[in-house]
Amino acid sequence: MIPDSFIQELLARIDIVEVVERHVPLRKAGINYSACCPFHSEKTPSFTVSHSKQFYHCFGCGAHGSAIGFLMQYVGIGFIDAVEELAHSIGLSVPQVSERLHAERAKKAPLTDIMALAAQFYKNQLKISPKAIEYLKGRGLTGEIAAKFGLGYAPDAWQGLQNAFPGYEKETALTECGLVICNDQGRRYDRFRDRIMFPILDQRSNVIGFGGRILDQGEPKYLNSPETPLFEKGRELYGLTQARSSIRETDTVIVVEGYMDVVALAQHGISNAVATLGTATTPTHLQKLLRQAGKVVFCFDGDAAGRKAAWRAADMSLEQVADDKSIGFIFLPTEHDPDSFVRAEGAEAFRRLVAQPLLLSDYLLQMMRSRVDLSTHEGRAGLISEVKPLLQRLAAPLLRVQLTKAIAEAAALTQAETEAACGLKPLARGRRGLPRQTRRLEISTHRTLLRAVIMQPARAARIPLERISHDSQESATLHAIVNDVTQGKLPTRSNAGHLDEFYRDTPHQRLIADVVLTLPEIGENEDSLEQEFNDAINSISRDEITQSIRAETAAAQTRPFTTADAQRLKELLSKKNSAKNRV
Ligand code: UTP
Ligand code: MN
Repeated sequence: MIPDSFIQELLARIDIVEVVERHVPLRKAGINYSACCPFHSEKTPSFTVSHSKQFYHCFGCGAHGSAIGFLMQYVGIGFIDAVEELAHSIGLSVPQVSERLHAERAKKAPLTDIMALAAQFYKNQLKISPKAIEYLKGRGLTGEIAAKFGLGYAPDAWQGLQNAFPGYEKETALTECGLVICNDQGRRYDRFRDRIMFPILDQRSNVIGFGGRILDQGEPKYLNSPETPLFEKGRELYGLTQARSSIRETDTVIVVEGYMDVVALAQHGISNAVATLGTATTPTHLQKLLRQAGKVVFCFDGDAAGRKAAWRAADMSLEQVADDKSIGFIFLPTEHDPDSFVRAEGAEAFRRLVAQPLLLSDYLLQMMRSRVDLSTHEGRAGLISEVKPLLQRLAAPLLRVQLTKAIAEAAALTQAETEAACGLKPLARGRRGLPRQTRRLEISTHRTLLRAVIMQPARAARIPLERISHDSQESATLHAIVNDVTQGKLPTRSNAGHLDEFYRDTPHQRLIADVVLTLPEIGENEDSLEQEFNDAINSISRDEITQSIRAETAAAQTRPFTTADAQRLKELLSKKNSAKNRV
């Protein structure tokens, strides 16, 4: 865990405008900066960066967050990496994480250098190998695409790499990164021989592994780097670095099975495809992809193995999908994989498939229906037991409701019956008992307080928390901020960016971002916000007084009305009046 205090310090020392500017050219527009949004494709700029709030927001697609959030979303890295990168840029080192990370980095650095050298060597070898060049040409690839993917050729020799590494016989790092194998007799030889080499890059474009394809027939067809300190198959995706800008433009990422599929699609102008590395799609893969695109489309081979892989991916998607994301599947004719399909049918035909995938919910429904006979009572009852475990794992609540409705229809049950049978809770309803109007007013008062305290956390001290209920997201967030500020966990000088990070991955984060959008810039309109704040606090005390008056009057009806009672009521009424007049 990185301490909150460090995050706060980091955010205080960097400027989001500079951080964004490193990746996206910004234009000054009034008090803010703006640009065409890097997270969706658009012609007129709706992406803004606020210096005073230290926050970015796109009015087009809703992307928003702090400098850390920007890096995570833009570069597609995790929280810790983003913090590391920002800290590094201003010469800070991240406490706790850094020791482990530095040790890891120090261990990896020589391996990374070796992999880069090896990739360069294989690339040079490709240039002078007519047979490898012929092979790639025969598969329809141009030099341009080969260069884009850094394709190479491992020569047909036992110690080819010796030409690139003078220390070949001694260097343990060469075996550690999986390029060289040492046999029982202590003889060293190249893992990859006479193969087309596909370098696998990490998010920072370092080469971390290779896939090597045999030129003709032979086993194994593909040889991959083993797991090394640099390379963990279940986390990495082939082609992600090259695909990133196209993924961003299309808001879509296509997941295929093979190296060649990625490269062939790119050759036909479809640049937003990535491949898993001879493993099934993992939750880590999907999380990585959903961070970068709203739509993930799986396109596996048309054979039985491809269909099985698709179903596994669908099953694994249940826990990862969110209501604002879509996961879809396309199924190619049995004889095809994406490479052969795009070559036979053309890019347009492939694009049409990608535009209309079978969506996750429909796929689930279709598979479940195929397992039972819906024309019988038994079959319809059986449908429920088939879907129950899937519905329970489905992470997106609205999608779950949609799917439940469809299942209910197929099973000839009502939605409520289906929910009950599957052990699902219906979507949460609002608090019962309070009239809607009162509740709306209460929430709007709480939002006003939130605006004011987010704008200026020092105001927390003036908010009467004991009079604020606990039964809406607004009130819960208000409680959290006021408590964290008054207990000194959050500095009173925090800006929106600070708050966003402090409440990252909590239920408060989203609401805070919503509220931030309605805030003026610092120095702008601050008086009116102060006035709204005072009004809201007064209205809370007024409500409380009104309730006391009601309670007093009700009590008075059950017993004799004394002069003390009269006195108390009089005081309450005058308090109420003065609260009303205080503006
Ligand atoms: P495929 O056998 O579908 O190969 O394996 P492909 O991608 O269509 O290859 P080409 O078109 O014949 O060149 C799909 C993926 O499975 C992994 C590789 O990652 C490959 O891209 N694989 C396959 C291996 O790791 N080893 C193998 O021997 C075969
Ligand atoms: Mn193929």
